[in-house]
Amino acid sequence: MTDQEQKNSETKSIERLKNVRTETEDVILKRRSVRIYQKKQVPEFLIKRILEAGRFAPSAGNCMPWKFVVIRDPEIIDGITQTVVQTCKMFKGLIDYRYNGSILRKIIASIVIRSKPNDLHPVPFGAISLIADGKLGLFHNAPTVILIFADERGIGFPTLDCGIAGQNMVLAAHSMGLGTCWIGFSKLAFENSKIWKNRLGIDFPYKFVSSLAVGYPVGKPDGLVARPTHAVDWYEGGMKKTLY
Ligand SMILES: Cc1cc2nc3c(=O)[nH]c(=O)nc-3n(C[C@H](O)[C@H](O)[C@H](O)COP(=O)(O)O)c2cc1C
Repeated sequence: MTDQEQKNSETKSIERLKNVRTETEDVILKRRSVRIYQKKQVPEFLIKRILEAGRFAPSAGNCMPWKFVVIRDPEIIDGITQTVVQTCKMFKGLIDYRYNGSILRKIIASIVIRSKPNDLHPVPFGAISLIADGKLGLFHNAPTVILIFADERGIGFPTLDCGIAGQNMVLAAHSMGLGTCWIGFSKLAFENSKIWKNRLGIDFPYKFVSSLAVGYPVGKPDGLVARPTHAVDWYEGGMKKTLY
């Protein structure tokens, strides 16, 4: 290809991008968290391909500070769910700050909530209540669950690397017509007791990060939704502008 031909081809490709989203962008924009799954299991080779997408994620120092555990045994999925339900019941009974309670309960609630501001925000607390009452399934009956553990010895922020690997897996899954949902609440089965780490044979240096529910969605939940924009500051040519 001559230099001129190369230039023409680049110009054409940029012109095309002005009007058309790439397939990757489409998957990113249209992916939705799936909370209703078909009963049928995902073929093993697809899960292996999803794990491969995780393995190819960038990581600080190329440490790849993660361990993935695939669970396809309903007894284990149910067992982890039961542990989380019990913990949610305990949280709800002890510190449900959305209702009036005794002074002691209020004091306990304010201490625990201050110590866990990210976990006991009103939004997760609403879900904690639903899980405790059996109104929200932990893994939404997904047939496959991928647990993500961080290798604490990783450079920088191993949990960030795990998040990147996890999202690689999520996007790969959606590109295959599968559905996924990040299940942050699953950490309640790993944080306060060693029971599940012991059962699964996981020990130092692995620390639980999060998990993914994976399966065939019921219906077609993927699609564009409205999203609020966050202002972006943009510095160029000695000027600052703000994009909305
Ligand atoms: C780290 C993380 C943890 C999450 N945990 C849960 C969870 O435990 N249960 C659940 O149903 N959804 C969970 N979600 C899904 C979010 O609720 C969802 O991504 C958000 O509402 C935006 O919707 P969308 O994924 O369809 O764009 C989690 C998402 C992330 C990124």
